[in-house]
Amino acid sequence: MIQVTWKIKHVLVSVVFLLILLLIFFAKYNSKHNAAQKTGQYLYKKFVFNDEIEYNKQLLQEASDRIQELEKKILALESQVPKSYPDVKFLNYLSRKRILITGGAGFVGSHLVDRLMLQGHEVIVADNFFTGRKRNVEHWIGHENFELIHHDIVNPLFIEVDEIYHLASPASPPHYMYNPVKTIKTNTLGTINMLGLARRLNARILIASTSEVYGDPDIHPQPETYWGHVNPIGPRACYDEGKRVSETLTYAYAKQENMQVRVARIFNTYGPRMHMNDGRVVSNFILQALQNDVITVYGSGDQTRSFQYVSDLVDGLVALMGSNYTQPINLGNPVEHSIIEFASIIKGLVGGRSKIKHLAQVEDDPQRRRPDITRAKKYLNWEPKVDLNAGLHKTVNYFKHELHRFKHSQRNKFLPEKP
Ligand SMILES: NC(=O)c1ccc[n+]([C@@H]2O[C@H](COP(=O)([O-])OP(=O)(O)OC[C@H]3O[C@@H](n4cnc5c(N)ncnc54)[C@H](O)[C@@H]3O)[C@@H](O)[C@H]2O)c1
Repeated sequence: MIQVTWKIKHVLVSVVFLLILLLIFFAKYNSKHNAAQKTGQYLYKKFVFNDEIEYNKQLLQEASDRIQELEKKILALESQVPKSYPDVKFLNYLSRKRILITGGAGFVGSHLVDRLMLQGHEVIVADNFFTGRKRNVEHWIGHENFELIHHDIVNPLFIEVDEIYHLASPASPPHYMYNPVKTIKTNTLGTINMLGLARRLNARILIASTSEVYGDPDIHPQPETYWGHVNPIGPRACYDEGKRVSETLTYAYAKQENMQVRVARIFNTYGPRMHMNDGRVVSNFILQALQNDVITVYGSGDQTRSFQYVSDLVDGLVALMGSNYTQPINLGNPVEHSIIEFASIIKGLVGGRSKIKHLAQVEDDPQRRRPDITRAKKYLNWEPKVDLNAGLHKTVNYFKHELHRFKHSQRNKFLPEKP
């Protein structure tokens, strides 16, 4: 009996001992399991979560690659969509001419481009972009009748054309005085190159001369028969004498080579697409008034100028090219204004708070300028039509727009109007 009880005790102790062992084992297992769980979470966070960031980065990269690919495709597709151009007249091959305009990316040249393109001709512009800009003619780029050549006319140019309008030359004092030797080269070597081209092709050539050939005139108004009053070594001489030589060359070629030449003596012209740094009265006064700056008048302001709107000039140039008249012809507006009067007209048009201030007179500044346009009336049936206020209004709007431009896309507001 005692033996049985001892055995039972022995068994019970063993069971209790086993139970304790089991408890210890479970307790250890649990703590290990918890630690493993914690370590797992940590590892998950460290690796899996980081992988997620990497994965997202990868997704973003793929998306941006795809966007770039799509952008390329859009560009390619856009280039296939036909660009819309101003509506040009259709001329058949008999009446359509190939016309070269040197300086066609400049202020006057670009308006002439518009006119000849709208008439249905093929127009080639040769320009070195010294003062001209591609954007003056960009609305024609790609048109089957239009071509733009980056070319300096001081170098010869070999192309096939029927007519040449030779306009290439800086026109405003700050531009032509910037590199006087180059200005002389452009008006001498450049003119020789164009006359040579016209002779080779038997093409008619029109030279854009200037009222500056009259210098500071002592005859008023200036008829074409007046020989001028120019200082040959003054600051304006590179331009004035350059244009005078250009005229001399033109008539020497005409006489010697029996060529068809036309010479336009252009007076002050203004309008949209004028250069922002033109530096002449119209642009200076408008820009100063628009920015509420002082309007600067050089000298007393009693000196006079006459201003023609650019579309009037283009009418005159086209009429001259088409005429049989071979002598120089004045193209300008005979309505004369003193500079001070002009400053107050612009101030009135723009509004604002600008004051007029007088500065020292500029060297060799002509005192009076007004064209005698009897010849143009008689031989071209031409006279200016655009009223000063209407022309200035368009020009002020142009400058206003230019001043507020801050993106490349904000441009070409002044698309050609149908004549
Ligand atoms: N705007 C006027 O009031 C006025 C008055 C008298 C005469 N003109 C004459 O009319 C013509 C055009 O004047 P604008 O007012 O349009 O001037 P502009 O400066 O706007 O245009 C002249 C153009 O000729 C280009 N050019 C200059 N040198 C060149 C060269 N070596 N090779 C190729 N291209 C060159 C310029 O880049 C520019 O596109 C000029 O010959 C100028 O002398 C103009």
